[in-house]
Amino acid sequence: MAEAPRPLFVPVILGTVRQGRMSLPVARLLTAELARRPGIETELIDIARLPLRIDDAGEAIKDPAFAGRMSRADALVIVSPEYNHGYTGLLKHVLDTCLAEYVHKAAGIVGVSAGPWGGTRGIQDLLPVLRELGLVTIFWDVNFSAVQTVFDDAGTLRDLSYLARIDKFLKELVWMATTLRHGREHVALE
Ligand SMILES: Cc1cc2nc3c(=O)[nH]c(=O)nc-3n(C[C@H](O)[C@H](O)[C@H](O)COP(=O)(O)O)c2cc1C
Repeated sequence: MAEAPRPLFVPVILGTVRQGRMSLPVARLLTAELARRPGIETELIDIARLPLRIDDAGEAIKDPAFAGRMSRADALVIVSPEYNHGYTGLLKHVLDTCLAEYVHKAAGIVGVSAGPWGGTRGIQDLLPVLRELGLVTIFWDVNFSAVQTVFDDAGTLRDLSYLARIDKFLKELVWMATTLRHGREHVALE
């Protein structure tokens, strides 16, 4: 009998440290949706819990635990709230601490905003950053608009229409992660 394929590791990065952040239920939902899929391992990486200095930047302040997760990852889900029409500064600070760990891995972005645009402006600015890091971005996003109305006080999803969009997004991300893993393991870079 053929061996079961090794699970894909797809961590979810929660891209804000703000007290009371509404991106937290979003990140938990994405982690739960990944966890219930066969052949996937996941973990929520909360950037507020990373021991990162802010008196230096880049690979000089690499956290071994975060870098280890990025090395192991086949794909990333990045939950990116929109702050002043951009992504958050601390998300960028964290992403900048690794480089080789990301190369030829898949990435999908989940935008979150209080306003009606679902974080799209931050997503558009984040895409070239991810490309420079060597990540391969997929062509689906998930956009949580008016996020304060989407979850109840217990953090449970109220608007179930998001589930179909998340399903489409994760299927695409898994396809890209599977394809890129095959490429990393079997296709030589001339
Ligand atoms: C500094 C800051 C700037 C913000 N700028 C925007 C914005 O440009 N557009 C928007 O729709 N919401 C904006 N928001 C609201 C956030 O999108 C909102 O808080 C949302 O819940 C996602 O962020 P959170 O995870 O920190 O809650 C801003 C929030 C903060 C703290």
